[in-house]
Amino acid sequence: MPSLLNYDDYRTRARSVLPRGLFEYIDRGTEDENALRYLRRGFDRVMLMPSVLAGAPVPELSTPLFGRVSALPIAIAPTALAGMVWHDGEIELARAAARCGIPFCVATQSITTIERIRAGAPDANLWFQLYVWNDVSLSYALIRRARASGVRTLVVTADTPVPLNREYNARNGFTVPFRCSVPGMLDLARHPRWVARVLLPLLATSGVPRYGHYPSGLEGNVMRASASAVGLKRSLDWQDIVELRQRWDGELIVKGIVNVEDARRAAQLGVDGIVVSVHGGRNLDPQPGPIDVLPRIAEAVGGRMTIMADSGVRRGTDILKYLALGAQMVLVGRAGLYGLASGGEAGAVAMIGMLRNEMETAMALLGKGRPADIQLFSLS
Ligand SMILES: Cc1cc2nc3c(=O)[nH]c(=O)nc-3n(C[C@H](O)[C@H](O)[C@H](O)COP(=O)(O)O)c2cc1C
Repeated sequence: MPSLLNYDDYRTRARSVLPRGLFEYIDRGTEDENALRYLRRGFDRVMLMPSVLAGAPVPELSTPLFGRVSALPIAIAPTALAGMVWHDGEIELARAAARCGIPFCVATQSITTIERIRAGAPDANLWFQLYVWNDVSLSYALIRRARASGVRTLVVTADTPVPLNREYNARNGFTVPFRCSVPGMLDLARHPRWVARVLLPLLATSGVPRYGHYPSGLEGNVMRASASAVGLKRSLDWQDIVELRQRWDGELIVKGIVNVEDARRAAQLGVDGIVVSVHGGRNLDPQPGPIDVLPRIAEAVGGRMTIMADSGVRRGTDILKYLALGAQMVLVGRAGLYGLASGGEAGAVAMIGMLRNEMETAMALLGKGRPADIQLFSLS
């Protein structure tokens, strides 16, 4: 991807190739979209303090995690509907992650099933993200499928008990479930290449796109509301985490924590890790970002479990900031999708390579070999 030099270039490419409704579903936030602005401001308030004449320490970005080594302190975050961004998008992302030596987290709401992703990317370190359904017995059956596909790391999303207020999607016609609307149909007509490369192959192989993991008969397709048995469990609580802990013999991660008390509770229940996350600014609009809360959470539970972070990463230096504030691993959501939209597996590999280069350059300028040694300087 020689002409794509930074995140914004990939984002611009994605905007041109994807239908507007799909692009905005990926790109935007909720309600007044304050969270997106606040995330950026949070990163911009924190500077990295260089040490000069440091003797060129070799940057060490490989990261031990759950008994394996990840080549970079990056994992690809779970994102619903990646299979609509590129044909077999989830498989392409899994292959890209495997080529880069990093984990890929498969979403409950992916188009492609975990079994097909495993078959398409046998070497990938696959994690599985769980949205707990109203009928929890169906969720337990789903995690057994994930385990049988070689998944050891289960990521339970805790910050989404209800559907979100995405007003722009109501306007641009990209609603989930999808509905035929005039803006939606015009949008498709303006993106014939996406229709030919992504939509038509999907229609030809599996009909109207479906959420791959929904039990047969309950999922309908992405144009029909799911049955209530597979609706998000609104009453999700810590007892669900206890039950999942008993049923899952691999690593259990809770995603979507910003409150230090919640982090403590997770640690007490024997959870192996948390993702400090505001869901990429796509859920509750007014809430503190990971930048604000990471140091407190790291102080409270660091050493007792693995702390990861995500939301708002646009540069390698954003990743370094999360790491310097106490995260051991950083998840990227939109970055992976924009790489995917720009060139499938190769585009996602190029995007991750770009983030790696940005991190290595910054570490050389900072005179540090390890992200954990980086000093921060906060602007008041
Ligand atoms: C299009 C899209 C779909 C997403 N779907 C899910 C999902 O199904 N489950 C989940 O836990 N998080 C989901 N997320 C949130 C990501 O896992 C992650 O927290 C977020 O994207 C990180 O922010 P970033 O996109 O700024 O890197 C989604 C994010 C995007 C952009």
